[in-house]
Amino acid sequence: MTVGIIGAAFRGGQRRVGTDHGPHAIRHGGFLEAAIRALGHEIKDYGDLRVEDLQNIQPKLAKTRINNVHIIGSYMKEMSQRVQQSLRENKLTIVLGGDHSIAVGTVHGHATTVVDDLAVVYVDAHADINTPMTSHTGNAHGMPVSLLCGEFRKYIDFQLDGLEPLAWLEPVISCKDLAYIGLRDVEPWERVALNHLGILEYNMQSIDDIGVKEVIRQALMRINPELRSHIHLSIDVDAMCPEFAPSTGLPVAGGLTLREVIQIAEVTAATGRLRLIEIVELNPKVGSSDDVHKTVEAAQAIILAACGHYRGGLYLNSTYGV
Ligand code: ARG
Ligand code: MN
Ligand code: MN
Ligand code: MN
Repeated sequence: MTVGIIGAAFRGGQRRVGTDHGPHAIRHGGFLEAAIRALGHEIKDYGDLRVEDLQNIQPKLAKTRINNVHIIGSYMKEMSQRVQQSLRENKLTIVLGGDHSIAVGTVHGHATTVVDDLAVVYVDAHADINTPMTSHTGNAHGMPVSLLCGEFRKYIDFQLDGLEPLAWLEPVISCKDLAYIGLRDVEPWERVALNHLGILEYNMQSIDDIGVKEVIRQALMRINPELRSHIHLSIDVDAMCPEFAPSTGLPVAGGLTLREVIQIAEVTAATGRLRLIEIVELNPKVGSSDDVHKTVEAAQAIILAACGHYRGGLYLNSTYGV
């Protein structure tokens, strides 16, 4: 198959410097492209989208409920366009983040290209479901889900909240098409929203109870029962235990192992419906060079699993006459 790669060199959804260097770290920290080609795929690289590449950034707004909304508005619009192009031209699209606010652009782009509802699997320690009104930080990486889900629209006033740069953003998914895996750091208001809307959630407790393979099987069965919909797999590296992904802005103890996330990617890819995987919140400016290396290796292993990599060592097929 052909695989599209898009770098989302973005950090405006949170305060730390560094997530904008995520794409560079993943591209050059290992042998990602060579490994994808070794699986038999062709790569189409769409380069990195940087804030400096944007055509018309609006002036900074004085009163707003989302930090950097003037940048986020145009960045996500452009990201949505790139995602749409790559989805048209490739079987699988890989997006290298970037903080998690980029999901506003990627999910918008993905949902725009499909006829059926898009199924979104959100692997994260956090729910990222704050609204501009409930967020204590004003950081957009804690809000992509509320910005994308129709159920929240009546609670967001783009004019009153100083969010004009995002006024183009139509809600493109609904809560019933979303499943969380790995939650363990949820704010009080976020908990109310999750419960009130009945959003499907496999937190760390349920993962320990039934195991990750059963978790991903159930999640896909619930949000995509006939496997008709395309799947958007959004992976925040902080879903993993800090020992596997230390280089991230908000690490939370007690998370998934790398192998568990690999299995999530494998099972999702095996449906034949996975069209986009994004790896977000990797920050090469956090931790030692060892930490960065570990986190990059983890990201790469997850991406390769989504590309159909087989974890059995050398696989002898007919090429070798056995
Ligand atoms: N709940 C916090 C907030 O809204 C943290 C969100 C963390 N999100 C992330 N993508 N790491 O600011
Ligand atoms: Mn996140
Ligand atoms: Mn997170
Ligand atoms: Mn559905």
